[in-house]
Order: sequence, then C-alpha cells, then structure tokens
Amino acid sequence: MGAKKRIGILTSGGDCAGLNPVIRAVVHHAIETYDWTVVGIREATHGLMSRPPRTIEFEINQVDSLLLMGGTILGTTNKGDPFAFPMSDGTLLDRSSEIIEGYHNLGLNALIGIGGDGSLAILRRLAQQGGINLVGIPKTIDNDVGATEVSIGFDTATNIATEALDRLHFTAASHNRVMILEVMGRDAGHIALAAGIAGGADIILIPEIPYNIANVCRKIRQRQERGKHFCLVMVSEAVRTELGDQLTQIKELGEDRLGGIGKYIAEQIALKTGAETRVTVLGHIQRGGIPSPVDRLLGSAFGVAAVDLIAQEKYDQMVAWQNRQIVSVPIAEAIKTYRTVDPEGTLVKTARGLGICLGD
Ligand code: F6P
Repeated sequence: MGAKKRIGILTSGGDCAGLNPVIRAVVHHAIETYDWTVVGIREATHGLMSRPPRTIEFEINQVDSLLLMGGTILGTTNKGDPFAFPMSDGTLLDRSSEIIEGYHNLGLNALIGIGGDGSLAILRRLAQQGGINLVGIPKTIDNDVGATEVSIGFDTATNIATEALDRLHFTAASHNRVMILEVMGRDAGHIALAAGIAGGADIILIPEIPYNIANVCRKIRQRQERGKHFCLVMVSEAVRTELGDQLTQIKELGEDRLGGIGKYIAEQIALKTGAETRVTVLGHIQRGGIPSPVDRLLGSAFGVAAVDLIAQEKYDQMVAWQNRQIVSVPIAEAIKTYRTVDPEGTLVKTARGLGICLGD
C-alpha cells in the first residue's frame, strides 16, 4: 500500500438518485481498505471558493444510511461556471484560481468529481490548470455522458417515469383520453425511450427522431379503429415543435430550462383528432426519491473503482460501465461526444417491433 492519502469528493451539476451511495462507497473503501482521509466538499466547486473551504471530514459512521438516500448530502449546483462566474453586480468573473487554491489549501492528494458531461468538462479544465489529480464518476438522469453505457441516476429516473406511465394507463383507459407524459433528458431521449417501452407507451417522441404530427394522429386513429379509445404518449423535453422551435419555460442566469413540448403535442392532437388530451409534466420527481437497487449497485461499484484509480495514481480518468464491467476511460474521451439515442439502436428497433409510433 502506498503513502497515506487525503482525498476530496464533490458532487456537481443536477442531483440524482445514487449520489449518496457513491459517497458511502468512497468513504468505506478509502478509510477501511486504505486508511486514507476523505474530505467531502460542499456544494460542488462553490465549497472550494469559500474561505475557509466548506467541507466535512468523513468518519465511517456518518455514511451509514446513505444507500437509501436520494439527492446528495454534500449539496450540489448546476449554476455558475467558475470560469465566468456570475457576480452580484451582474459581471462575470473567472474564479478558477480560487477553486484551485481551495483544493491545495485543503492539502488534498486527489479529487473525485461526480458529475455529468458539463461538470466533468469544467472539473477537467480546473484540474489541468491547477495540477489537481482528478478522477471522474458519471452521473445524470439524462444518461448522456460519453464512453459509459450508463450513468448514475438514469435507472431510478427511468423507474419513476415508467411508474408514472403505469399510473396514467388506467385513468387514460377509464376516460378514453390521450395522456401525454413529458419527461426530462435534455437533448437525449434515453429516459423517454426506455420508460416508454417499459411502460407500454403507444407513441414515443424523442429529439433524435424527427416526427410528424400527422403520423402521431394516424396512430391514435388506428387504435380507435381497433376499439382502443385511449392512448399513452411519451415525449422527451427537448423534442421541438413541428416548426423546429425549442420550447423552454424558465430562464435563469442566462440558461434556459426545457419544458412545454407536452402541452404543444397535446394541443396538436386535440386539434387534429378531436381527442380529449391531458398533460403530465414529470419534472424533478425523476431526480428525487430512493435510489433504485441498480443505482445503489452502480454507485457502489463506481465509488470503489474511483478510489482504486487514485490508489494506482491513474488520474484524468473517469470510471465507466462497458460490457458488463467497470473500466476507466480518459475524461477527455467521455466528454468528447454527447451520448444520444442511436436511431438504429436496439431500443429503437424494439419500439418499432412493438408497433410503437416514433412519429416518423
Ligand atoms: O441534466 C439533468 C436535468 O434534470 C435535465 O434532464 C433537465 O433538463 C435539467 O437538468 C433541469 O435542470 P434544473 O434542475 O436546473 O431545473
């Protein structure tokens, strides 16, 4: 065993279920296997900007119930790029050197950054600029991080979206309604496609496959001709209107938040088929709740593997899930390509084989 290390861990970007199981695994493995010190950094890089840095030095008994807890006990943020940080007077300031200084002031030998593609890109830039020994762990309900088949949070979000569709099924059937469920996913349709298939959607619209509202309406009429007067429509938040407009609902710090396409699709269906429609926007429900067993397993495996990478002093790497095992890949490779749904991939073929209308 090498020299005793002092490692930092932070969660960055939007929260999701499974982050706390990662923290638990890192603390257990680092302390019990290697006898290291684990310093939790609060609220992503913001904790490193504060003076003194906002941290918690973990003891093993502090992570007891983390397997079951949603969110992140460290706190997180998906706002405020440290290279152009929005200040209270409206100006943007490069605060990267403060974060780097905060890391070194804590006497850390390495940092585990749990984040999506945006956070991992920022952390890598900080690491390169400031000599931070970084290991990344992919998390995001959107499942859009490159070089890994799955990220923490996706399974729980998919379970929640599937359950929502299950619940809509019977009320849709009782009232002969077309129920539209709008789910998150940013520019990738992974949640919509997976939960749509698992929940028996009749129509699934994802940003990767351009749709035509006439095809959507045809599917609804076909079902009606077969005596099925209700329909379940799953739509991913980044799907555009037929005219190509991206719908957003909130603008914060110059960043748009997607939302509203479900309402648009419902209006179009009502207009063109006369069907009674209702819209459910699942929203942040998908990010909350108890981590699924898969996310607990993945979080535990990623946490242990990240600590082992630090033990081997293999930095600038991200742990990833490929071909039923954990591997490590350069962070640069993971953030190079945004992982969207493959329109020729297995799940799309499955959906088509089941007669699900994808709008094309
Ligand atoms: O990236 C995760 C995600 O939940 C997206 O699916 C969604 O578009 C976005 O974050 C919502 O962001 P916020 O939490 O800032 O509303």
